[in-house]
Formats: sequence, C-alpha cells, structure tokens
Amino acid sequence: METATSRDTHAAPPKHIAIIMDGNGRWAISRGLPRVAGHQRGADAVRATVRACGELGVDFLTLYAFSSENWKRPADEVQDLMSLLRLYLRRELAELATNGVRLRVIGDRAGLDSDIQDLIREAEEATAKNGGLTLTVALNYGGRNEIVAAVQEIAREVSGGLIEANAITASVIEAHLQTDGIPDPDLLIRTSGEHRLSNFLLWQTAYTELVFTPVLWPDFGRKELEESIREYRRRERRYGGSST
Ligand code: FPP
Repeated sequence: METATSRDTHAAPPKHIAIIMDGNGRWAISRGLPRVAGHQRGADAVRATVRACGELGVDFLTLYAFSSENWKRPADEVQDLMSLLRLYLRRELAELATNGVRLRVIGDRAGLDSDIQDLIREAEEATAKNGGLTLTVALNYGGRNEIVAAVQEIAREVSGGLIEANAITASVIEAHLQTDGIPDPDLLIRTSGEHRLSNFLLWQTAYTELVFTPVLWPDFGRKELEESIREYRRRERRYGGSST
C-alpha cells in the first residue's frame, strides 16, 4: 500500500500500469467493419503493449479484457471475445514464456467456459516462475464483486474466530483481494475518450494517476504508451499530503 511518505520521484517508469482498453467497437464501425474486427485489432494492441511494457521496464501490467457487465452484450459478440481469448491464450503462451512474462488472471473464472478455465490454469502454471513483467488479465471481473468476495471471506474468518473484527485493517482487506501481492497501479490509462473507472480496480486505484486518451484501443501502441507515461511524469503524487 502507498503511504504519504513513499513519494514517487518519477525517474523510473511506473511500476504498475493498468489499462481500460476501450474503443474497439468504434474503431471497427468507423471503418465499416464488424465489431469483431475491432476486437481482433485490439488483441494486436495487447501484444504490442505487453512487449513495450517489458522493454520499458514496467513490472506490472493489468488489462481489463472482459468485465462482469460485458455479458450484457449480444451473444455473438461475447462469443467472439471468448474465441479471441482462447486464441490469445494458445498462441501467445510461447512468446509470454520466452519473454519472462508471468500471467495472472483476476475475476470470476468459474463463470467462464471450462476449456478457457483450463487454458488459464495451464498458462498461469507455465509462467508462474517467470521473473519479468507480471501481466494480469481481468476476465469476468468487477471491482465491487471483488470487494464483496473479500468481505465475505473476512466475515467467515471473524465468525470462525480466526480474526477479531477490530483487527481488520486495510492490509487485511488487500490480502483478501485477488490482486494480493501486486502493488497498487501507479498509472491507469483509459482509451477512447471515456472518463470512467467502470468498476475496474476500485480499491486499488485510490491514489492512482488517471490518464485519459482519445486514441481508440486498436490504435494504441508504444508511442501512445510513452505519451501516457510522460503525462504521468508531469503529475506530482502527494498521497493526500501537501506539496511543500
Ligand atoms: C472495449 O471496446 C473492449 C472490450 C470490451 C474488450 C477488450 C478485448 C480485447 C482488446 C481483445 C482481447 C483481449 C485479450 C487479452 C487478448 P468496446 O467494444 O467497448 O468499444 P466501443 O466502446 O467503441 O463499442
């Protein structure tokens, strides 16, 4: 957890970047293409961004790939997104492994098709010992659901006598979130000009610098990533303290 004393000098790249990848649909529609074409190009942008983060020395990258609310989309679009995910997990595993990337998935994976759950488990196991970038993909993820699950687990521990109610601290809650062991994001980027968190990492973004870019996700690449990092560097992070 960040504290008022851990000020960031911004000399180093942000340790943890989180991204809300938005605008795939608009990218496709503006070209007269089906929405799935935008998601396919979005998957290319994921590949480029993972590579760039590794090269820039970012330690943690967390991507919002499918929210717990995305099930409300038409069934064929949901299916297209799931097929892309299968493809990504199968095809990229070798590259992730050779580049030292460690893959983690957060979200309610029990709600995903069982073959996708298997692919996730295999990819997590195959990359678990890698020491490079930790790539966390949020799938069937919702920040409020994550907090509710943590509260339920803590309540069970209280009723089982494992912890006293007044011993519940922010650190105890963090240890029950799915992001346990991952530092809070320093920088959160949302593409496509929308200015919302949309239920992403609600607890973890308390002190995160938010950068919004009008670029649509399929057009996002290393150049746009570096621009967002420059914007982040121009900010002064005070964690609730004062600047003087
Ligand atoms: C938002 O665009 C994007 C998504 C809901 C899905 C993100 C998925 C990918 C980038 C592809 C696969 C991911 C991985 C990890 C391989 P939108 O459809 O909401 O765009 P719109 O707001 O313009 O309609």
